Amino acid sequence: MVQGSHGGYGTAVLTNKDQNIKILRSRALSFLRRPEGPDDHDAYVFIEDAGLALQGGRIAGFGEFGEISKRFDGEITDHRPYLLLPGLIDPHIHFVQMQVVASYAANLLEWLNKYTFVEEQRFADPLHGELVAREFFDTLIRHGTTSAVAYCSVHKASAEVFFAEAQRRNMLMIGGKCLMDRNCPKALQDTAKSGYDDTRTLIEKWHGRGRARYAITPRFAITSSPGQLETVTALLREFPDCYMQTHLSENVGEIAFTRELYPGHQDYLAVYEHYEMLGKKSLFGHAIHLSERELAAMAQSGSVAVSCPTSNLFLGSGLFDHDRVMGSGARMAVATDIGGGTSFSMLKTMDEFYKIQQLNGNRLDPFMAFYHMTLGNARALSLEKNIGTLEAGSDGDIVVLDAGATPEAALKMQRVESLGEELFLLQTLGDDRAVVETYVAGRAMKGNISKSGV
Ligand code: GUN
Ligand code: ZN
Repeated sequence: MVQGSHGGYGTAVLTNKDQNIKILRSRALSFLRRPEGPDDHDAYVFIEDAGLALQGGRIAGFGEFGEISKRFDGEITDHRPYLLLPGLIDPHIHFVQMQVVASYAANLLEWLNKYTFVEEQRFADPLHGELVAREFFDTLIRHGTTSAVAYCSVHKASAEVFFAEAQRRNMLMIGGKCLMDRNCPKALQDTAKSGYDDTRTLIEKWHGRGRARYAITPRFAITSSPGQLETVTALLREFPDCYMQTHLSENVGEIAFTRELYPGHQDYLAVYEHYEMLGKKSLFGHAIHLSERELAAMAQSGSVAVSCPTSNLFLGSGLFDHDRVMGSGARMAVATDIGGGTSFSMLKTMDEFYKIQQLNGNRLDPFMAFYHMTLGNARALSLEKNIGTLEAGSDGDIVVLDAGATPEAALKMQRVESLGEELFLLQTLGDDRAVVETYVAGRAMKGNISKSGV
């Protein structure tokens, strides 16, 4: 079965027998742009018998296997009949909340105070951070996630261990130390000055080092004084190439408290606008309860609304409206938000995102869902030249998925007749068991986790 445009794309250098070339043979899917509907086959490339050549950590060629195997000579790994895709991207996750997952709370603010602000204090100890960092990246790899945007704790050391472990695995990771100087335990507070100084030091050390990128990370308006947000303005002016991540309009109690703390602003987003925090590299987690004005301001500034469906259901925060946000012209992404979120799996995350859209009266087609997990999230990070597609020249971050990985999924697979149905099955029943292999910068990583701890 061949759907969509095919035959590969990009030009690659013809190379004679080279030990450094690896060829993956598989069924393969890669998006070219956002699909306009389930029948928009021009939005993607699907190849039933594809070849993907990897060299120097990058994709050197992608196309029909017959053509790739003529152009490149390297060891072949045959992943047929599985489905090869660009590695999945998680644009909002708290690395320091692995042990907060499944904490029983009435709502966001209770959950933060009762569990999250307690757990994050452990990251004052870099040894604890190192242990969790290893678990964190092992877990991402097991779930087929090759890039993520992470919140570390307030401690500079937590960002150090995060970036060091990502570098050891050569993963493209974005992260930052939280800035928070009020409305949380003293042990989790920095000051406007120390937060600024630590952020600056971390940016100078890590931003652009190998595959690392820095996100300036004011946690949210509730935990930052106006004085601290002024330092965020300064940092963003000094380092315009860095990302900015924060939380926005997740929960009604949070919105009410923010408005009390910042009474002079017309709405929640206006606080962040005042401190010049909007822009093309600005990621606003949740962004559920936005007014028309706020959405228009997001769209106009190129800011990204990052939806976190499992978290929003778990904490009872609200239902993000995909079609409303897309219709407004705002950029958007979908993420796990571990540990408010309940799964590391982008497949399960999309399953819940789909159900939320059902409740909103919208249908999310599986091509749109897989677009979001790959090219869509890469675009939201302005990284589509590096990740999110199988185009020659992209980084060699790849996931191989088996839609029939469990007995019940295999049984349902017997009824699957199209690529769309296969994707929908992967999204609905899939999790880490569906991930056959995860390649990071051209290296197979999933099979190595248990053997060597990578
Ligand atoms: N708002 C501020 N901090 C957090 C957090 O850690 N998780 C979630 N879900 N929302 C937040
Ligand atoms: Zn979050």
